[in-house]
Amino acid sequence: MARLIHSRSSLSRFFNTLGSTGRGRYLSTGSNKIDEPLEVEDAETVQVPHPPEEKLLVLGGSGFVGSHICKEALDRGLSVTSLSRSGKPSIQEPWANNVHWHQGDLLSGGSWKEALNGVTSIVSCVGGFGSNSYMYKINGTANITAIRAAAEKGVKRFVYVSAADLGVVNYFLQGYYDGKRAAETELLVRYPYGHVILRPGFIYGTRRVGSMELPLGVFGGPLEMVLQHAKPLSQVPLVGPLLTPPINVTAVAKVAVRAAIDPVFPPGIIDVHGLMRYSHQK
Ligand SMILES: NC(=O)c1ccc[n+]([C@@H]2O[C@H](COP(=O)([O-])OP(=O)(O)OC[C@H]3O[C@@H](n4cnc5c(N)ncnc54)[C@H](OP(=O)(O)O)[C@@H]3O)[C@@H](O)[C@H]2O)c1
Repeated sequence: MARLIHSRSSLSRFFNTLGSTGRGRYLSTGSNKIDEPLEVEDAETVQVPHPPEEKLLVLGGSGFVGSHICKEALDRGLSVTSLSRSGKPSIQEPWANNVHWHQGDLLSGGSWKEALNGVTSIVSCVGGFGSNSYMYKINGTANITAIRAAAEKGVKRFVYVSAADLGVVNYFLQGYYDGKRAAETELLVRYPYGHVILRPGFIYGTRRVGSMELPLGVFGGPLEMVLQHAKPLSQVPLVGPLLTPPINVTAVAKVAVRAAIDPVFPPGIIDVHGLMRYSHQK
């Protein structure tokens, strides 16, 4: 099968990453340049074996972000499974009939592990708010359990939807951020070359709450327009992180699916600016 490999420079960037420390690489604001848009100045067609069928498991596929990821993955022709405590959500759109909906709780026993059968990559959208101990469990322990089980089962790639550091806000949501960072650490250990960590700030789009639809884009969209140009201000201590621009849920979904299935997508942490850049690529 003929596949177009982006360019020699992108390939060498990828192999450089493999040859690095094996820890996560920051794909947006750091001094290394691996986050630059891929340039196709030297594209070539090479023969590579036909990949086996990609089967994506979306942990929390019934939620706001997860459902958009399921839809994006189906649009790309993948076989898609979701796992959540509630199982199949009440989404009335036709695409929802093409997802295999599993019901299971990552924090309770191991019966949910059957959802891992035949899975080649995972995107985890499991997370939530509540008391500090609940937030640690749902953002941390639940994801750590999933990461360990996936590694034992031989799943190749694991993408984790984490969250941007919001400075002073972290203090009030300690369990949430401690859980997120604990899950990220586990991912780096278990998937040194197969992890991608997404760190968006506020994600907007249409969120379903029961039978109601909340159009969060009404203020998220304009804020994104303004704040995406305020990147230098994000370095200002204390208030800077609060200026993290919001991002559209479809952009997050697009990057998450690509990170899960593109074999030359480099491992690392992608902040909101990196997410915006990747989402504009084909
Ligand atoms: N929305 C944002 O603005 C935003 C911003 C930054 C980061 N994030 C992160 O992005 C991720 C997705 O956010 P979201 O807004 O889509 O959240 P959400 O709508 O609450 O979705 C969370 C999903 O996780 C599932 N889940 C929770 N606990 C579970 C468990 N123990 N076992 C199995 N499934 C479980 C939920 O389904 P059940 O309840 O049915 O189990 C649901 O499908 C979260 O990690 C969140 O922290 C979100």
